[in-house]
Amino acid sequence: MLFRRMRTWLRTKAQGTEFEPTLEHYAISVGERALPSSPRSVAIDAVAPSEPSDPIIRSPSNGTLHVDIDIIDKCNLRCPTCFRGTAAQKNTSAVMAVPKFREIVKKVAAEGYPNVTLINWTEPFLCKTLDQYIPTIKEYGMDCWLSSNLSLPPKQYADSMVRTLAAGVDILFVSVSGFAQETYQINHVGGRSDWIKENVEILSRELRAGRIKTSIWIRYLEWPYNAHEKAPWIELCKRLKIGFIAIPAYGDPKTPLPNAAEFGKYLEGKLFATAKIDLTDENIPKKICTLIADRVAIDAKGDAYLCCAFPNESRLRIGHYTELSEDELLLRRLEHDFCKTCAIPPRDITDKDIARIKRARERRASQTTL
Ligand SMILES: C[S@@+](CC[C@H](N)C(=O)[O-])C[C@H]1O[C@@H](n2cnc3c(N)ncnc32)[C@H](O)[C@@H]1O
Ligand code: SF4
Ligand code: SF4
Repeated sequence: MLFRRMRTWLRTKAQGTEFEPTLEHYAISVGERALPSSPRSVAIDAVAPSEPSDPIIRSPSNGTLHVDIDIIDKCNLRCPTCFRGTAAQKNTSAVMAVPKFREIVKKVAAEGYPNVTLINWTEPFLCKTLDQYIPTIKEYGMDCWLSSNLSLPPKQYADSMVRTLAAGVDILFVSVSGFAQETYQINHVGGRSDWIKENVEILSRELRAGRIKTSIWIRYLEWPYNAHEKAPWIELCKRLKIGFIAIPAYGDPKTPLPNAAEFGKYLEGKLFATAKIDLTDENIPKKICTLIADRVAIDAKGDAYLCCAFPNESRLRIGHYTELSEDELLLRRLEHDFCKTCAIPPRDITDKDIARIKRARERRASQTTL
């Protein structure tokens, strides 16, 4: 029954073809969800201001490679197409301490990642001291991206939002799913579209005044039911001289994703998997999951998880990020039982991936023989 529900949770249209995605289909899209770095995500519509006097709106560079860090552990909304919204990922009061964050960012930089996003399963602007975290990312020469619902009362939040962007955020995506309140609240449950518009007006004014340099994009989560409301957002973006991008949204707001108990059961079923993944020399895989090879998901306690596609469930916890070597983090994720049953199509393996795996295995072997 649960598995049948898994299949029917997410009905959507892909390039005009009806299909019933499984949770894995969901996770494929969620792999893309963080930011529109891939051509697939920019496929529908991307409008950036074009007049020479416009602020420069740029897309993420090296967009595939990023580490996603949650500074806090909560969101103000209840989107049914998000594991946070269904409370599979429950709100807590956890906040990452700034010194811990610095330790993490130092390691992220040493491992060669070009980008840090301060979101995985949270609303980042709920953290009113977010501005204190940004300079560390810049100090280590990386780009900082945020994604926000911006559905927060401007009187209480606009100042800290401006402070945060002014501290050096490179890219901000504002996730919306409608222009009119009635449409918007179908997926963004608990949200207010008038607050988003007011906040966006404030931020764009700061941008034009040169007080912030962030590339701001409206990120339109598009379903058939809300496609007609892209146009007014495009108009508003042109007027405010900010970017607009529409992406095919995953899921169906009328069929919510699993809650914590349901996801737990799903995971349990999947973890009854069979043979261990063999990473011996003769058996270097030909493919690798991009969510392992190119990204790391870290929660507000500093723990690294298997990937950003699924909630931070204890069975998907890999270890404390700063206590794990890069090699061990890679191997533990590559060997994780859950991946054995995951249908998400991996990407082709590169020479660099192979070198990383071999090095990690050699170092592990040398440590066990000491
Ligand atoms: C889980 S949210 C956390 C950040 C922030 N709360 C937000 O909504 O932008 C991370 C990313 O998931 C994207 N996202 C959320 N629901 C989605 C959906 N149904 N389809 C595609 N992307 C989605 C958001 O646009 C956001 O960039
Ligand atoms: S606003 Fe973002 S984090 Fe919050 S429930 Fe919606 S998608 Fe999830
Ligand atoms: S890391 Fe594993 S579970 Fe996550 S998307 Fe990749 S293969 Fe699936």
